[in-house]
Amino acid sequence: MADPLEAIKDPVRNLRPYSLAPEYAAVKINQNESPWDVHRSVKEEATRRMTGRAWSRYPDFVAAALHERLAGFCGWKAEGILTGNGSNELIQALLMVTVGAGERVLISEPTFALYRQITTVLGGEIVSTCLTRDFRYDIESLRSAVRAARPAVTIICSPNNPTGSLIEARDLIILLEATRGLVAVDEAYFEFAESSVASLLNDYPNLIIFRTFSKAMAMAALRIGYLLAAPEVAREVSKAVLPYNLNLFSQTAAEVALEMYEAKIRPLVRIAGAERDRLHIELKRIPGLAPLYSRANFMVVRSSIEPRRVCRELLKRDILVRDVSSQPMLEDYFRTSVGTHHENDLLIRALREIFEAGPEN
Ligand SMILES: Cc1ncc(COP(=O)(O)O)c(C=O)c1O
Repeated sequence: MADPLEAIKDPVRNLRPYSLAPEYAAVKINQNESPWDVHRSVKEEATRRMTGRAWSRYPDFVAAALHERLAGFCGWKAEGILTGNGSNELIQALLMVTVGAGERVLISEPTFALYRQITTVLGGEIVSTCLTRDFRYDIESLRSAVRAARPAVTIICSPNNPTGSLIEARDLIILLEATRGLVAVDEAYFEFAESSVASLLNDYPNLIIFRTFSKAMAMAALRIGYLLAAPEVAREVSKAVLPYNLNLFSQTAAEVALEMYEAKIRPLVRIAGAERDRLHIELKRIPGLAPLYSRANFMVVRSSIEPRRVCRELLKRDILVRDVSSQPMLEDYFRTSVGTHHENDLLIRALREIFEAGPEN
């Protein structure tokens, strides 16, 4: 019998699957989630509204009510908004309508692994520049790469997962003007940074922004993402999105979350920012650790002890962080999300203990 795997494209077979070990710990700070569940009043109101709706019927073809609320929240037109089953789905949809065999996608690494993964599966080619040595976007090398490689899409993650780097608006404008392709900015963590490039959408129809309800909105389980773009671009991307991709419960919960954002969600985003800054100061005080300042709800930390060992030691103490040491430029780093005040205290105490004991213990 022929090898069934021969039917799979070579670049796909050569890829490592995007996956996460199913480890569990009491302090789970490995996925940049909110450490606080979404407020009970959001859950109750979403459930109340769902009880009054027919579950036997498909939801509206376009989630118009949600798009209207997002338009108000983002200051952008509803016709230029798409919603998806997580922002991952919309990143995939954008790449599906732009990338074919031989088409290039430009990224700056280290960054979110999915851009490379999806591009490769679609038969496209990744062109990658590095961040600067101090982990900023290197606009000169991006500009040169745009000129040389002529990518169909350039993807910038801002704040960048995992380094927290932000792209400056003036640098993004240089890119938007230098390229003949699209520039997608993944703003999955923009609420924590209190910074967005959305104001450039009016002037640059080649700009696309991805956002999510999985991080600051504390609703990762419901899988809700959205995209902001020029209406004519959003219309094209929508051709790669399956009908009824966002279920009615998630649509309804997202509407409620937006209505209650100021009262019930934003205060926690502010606390996360303050906790991040405290964590950064405390980790800097531990000999052997050098955290990188981040504007998101996570940070990478340079470690004089091999990151894999640090992660293992933390797991023994029921704390789960992310080993990012296989990523370019990050051989000596692990990543931690910002937890609750108590969880951050536990992390700080555990790291003090591990580093006081030293690498041989
Ligand atoms: C930069 C970035 N973009 C997108 C996502 C995925 O978000 P979603 O849960 O909306 O698919 C993540 C999740 O970790 C992320 O870090």
